[in-house]
Amino acid sequence: MKIAIIGYGKMGREVENIARETEIEIASRIDPVAEEADFKEISKESIGDADVCIDFTQPETAIPNLEKISELGKNTVIGTTGWYEQEKKARKIVEKAGTGCIYASNFSIGVNLFFRMVKEGARLLNCFPEYDCFAVEQHHKRKKDSPSGTAKSIGDILLKELDSKDKIETGRLDRQIDERELHLASVRGGHVPGTHSVFFDSEADTIELKHTARNRKGFATGAVKAAEWIKGKKGFFSIDDMMKEILDKGAKI
Ligand SMILES: NC(=O)c1ccc[n+]([C@@H]2O[C@H](COP(=O)([O-])OP(=O)(O)OC[C@H]3O[C@@H](n4cnc5c(N)ncnc54)[C@H](O)[C@@H]3O)[C@@H](O)[C@H]2O)c1
Repeated sequence: MKIAIIGYGKMGREVENIARETEIEIASRIDPVAEEADFKEISKESIGDADVCIDFTQPETAIPNLEKISELGKNTVIGTTGWYEQEKKARKIVEKAGTGCIYASNFSIGVNLFFRMVKEGARLLNCFPEYDCFAVEQHHKRKKDSPSGTAKSIGDILLKELDSKDKIETGRLDRQIDERELHLASVRGGHVPGTHSVFFDSEADTIELKHTARNRKGFATGAVKAAEWIKGKKGFFSIDDMMKEILDKGAKI
């Protein structure tokens, strides 16, 4: 398989490192600013004979890039975040072009497995009301958003599954918690690459489900797996579709 890397920043470089460890070839690296990139713009020439383009750019460029890539008849992996209010538009672009696209706010396979474990944990705990639930996330001090996108997804899963909770509280608690609130706390400091913990707590014990990211490699590995998955497919997919297919089949990819 051949990929074109769109956006040669931190994630684009990580994708390149992963590709170089495997059989995957790199058709080109496209970035208007990065000096080491091969091209500044997406075009027929710059994408060349890539099977799939992997986009890790910025929120404003994700949809225009998808449009250009789809018009050139190529499939896309969108790793870029922050464009999700335009999801309908993205779907239309892909369907009109008859191409394929997969996106995720978090391409880490570990995090996507963790989501499933949290969901199952919440379902199990519904049978035992003596267990309360709360979540905590930690990230390095340079992280711009709080709570993290991953923490929001965890909150959504828990709220949907837990019979005992009906709203999420992410702010500082300067009062006693309401029983039906799910407290999701964010801490920022140091160099922590990203830690998400979900606690199921009773008077007798604590069950802690915890995902700890070591670096950006997990995101890039997942994005490259997604490129292999979307190669030759038509349609608009999220990582949930890919995870479901893999887990249902028990297939290895
Ligand atoms: N989905 C995931 O798993 C995941 C993981 C990490 C980061 N991200 C997201 O990926 C995006 C990039 O993150 P990063 O840390 O690599 O950022 P970065 O700032 O290091 O790199 C972005 C690069 O994109 C380039 N760029 C901007 N517009 C472009 C365009 N039109 N065409 C080509 N290149 C363009 C910039 O010049 C820059 O080099 C962000 O939206 C981030 O939130 C997603």
